[in-house]
Amino acid sequence: MDHIFEKYSLKKPENLIPLLQDIQKEKGYLTDEIVDKVADYLHIPTNRIYGVATFYDQFRFRQRGQYHIQVCRGTSCYLCSSSSYLKEIEKLLKIQAGLVTRDRKFSLEIVNCMGGCGKSPVIRINDNYYHRLSVSDLSDIIRALREKKQ
Ligand code: FES
Repeated sequence: MDHIFEKYSLKKPENLIPLLQDIQKEKGYLTDEIVDKVADYLHIPTNRIYGVATFYDQFRFRQRGQYHIQVCRGTSCYLCSSSSYLKEIEKLLKIQAGLVTRDRKFSLEIVNCMGGCGKSPVIRINDNYYHRLSVSDLSDIIRALREKKQ
């Protein structure tokens, strides 16, 4: 990671967000050790870094799978039974929301409104949105991703 820190050689506090973005882009997620290192480097208290990193949705402290599945539990999706999606995906992946499969192929997260309420319920897998799927659609999608090479 030294090459990332070298990019921000001026060590200004305003470099905090771009520095965290670059580290996360390379590592996939942030850790307590990374926060400590950034705090030392920029001379910023760790609680300020956690404050920033937890305020913005873009930062995460957990590793994601190759395919990160987000199930919307906003009001509209909730009313359209998104909980049945969640149950089905948890069953298919054998993990609960917030976790990553052992092979690190999938991770599962519950999120709030993704801005597609008119097409509820909504799930997102990496950058792709899916609307109003059936349970068998979910199973087909996950099977296809599981079998996909890279
Ligand atoms: S509540 Fe799910 S997209 Fe808005």
